[in-house]
Amino acid sequence: MSEDRKNKKDKAGEAGEAAVPRHIAIILDGNGRWAKKRGLPRTAGHAVGSENFRKIALYCRDIGVDYLTVYAFSTENWKRPETEVNTIMKLLEKYLHEAIDTMERDRMRMQVFGDVSGLSPRLQELVKQTNEIASRFEGFTANICLNYGGRDEIVRAAGKYAADLVAGRAEGELSEELFSSYLDSAGTPDPDLIIRPGGEVRISNFLLWQGAYSELYFSDVLWPDFGTSELDKAIAEFNNRNRRYGNVG
Ligand code: IPE
Ligand code: IPE
Ligand code: MG
Repeated sequence: MSEDRKNKKDKAGEAGEAAVPRHIAIILDGNGRWAKKRGLPRTAGHAVGSENFRKIALYCRDIGVDYLTVYAFSTENWKRPETEVNTIMKLLEKYLHEAIDTMERDRMRMQVFGDVSGLSPRLQELVKQTNEIASRFEGFTANICLNYGGRDEIVRAAGKYAADLVAGRAEGELSEELFSSYLDSAGTPDPDLIIRPGGEVRISNFLLWQGAYSELYFSDVLWPDFGTSELDKAIAEFNNRNRRYGNVG
């Protein structure tokens, strides 16, 4: 547990305040509509959305969240017009570049989930460097889902397990725990809370395995407008939920 989280949890205990979820996941949706409302190109929404990610990630770190996982580009988002895809890829490159320079200073580990082999060689190199830096220290972790799809992640995990089995590197007895270790999220606890801003009430192929018992929170606020007070609201609602995991209350 991070020091921040420990302090926050201790304080919460003393004051009878709400606890902070250990792992929050967010579907970053609504950038295009945010821009359209302002008469701007959709790509302008992606630029503001990417700045908002930085703000929310630092806030999560400061309030004692241990893991933040964000859905930035899905395996289905390649269907979009080429100019929009190119702009998103440029923004991601810029973001990872900056992260490489600042993550150690900011005590923010950044990791990428998704099928990295489908990204440009330049992005693949940046992802490699980012993951390498993240392996050097501990603490708050932000996972960025890039060319990510829940189904694709499960299929890739099954393929990796099958290859290990054939090579004699894996046990024949497959358990949920063993299977989880082949997912991109290996070693990360399941999300406690999944938030979707932007008004749509669906999962859109996000964390299908890991979200089995996550609490879901939907908001009409578009992602570029989803500030820290909106996050506080989501956490407050999370604290009013009763998680039963199939048991009785
Ligand atoms: C989310 O915003 C960003 C990505 C999916 C890359 P959208 O671009 O989906 O914005 P809307 O939903 O069209 O408003
Ligand atoms: C989900 O948003 C994917 C990301 C935010 C990366 P979409 O905008 O792609 O989802 P749909 O098409 O509305 O389901
Ligand atoms: Mg959308």
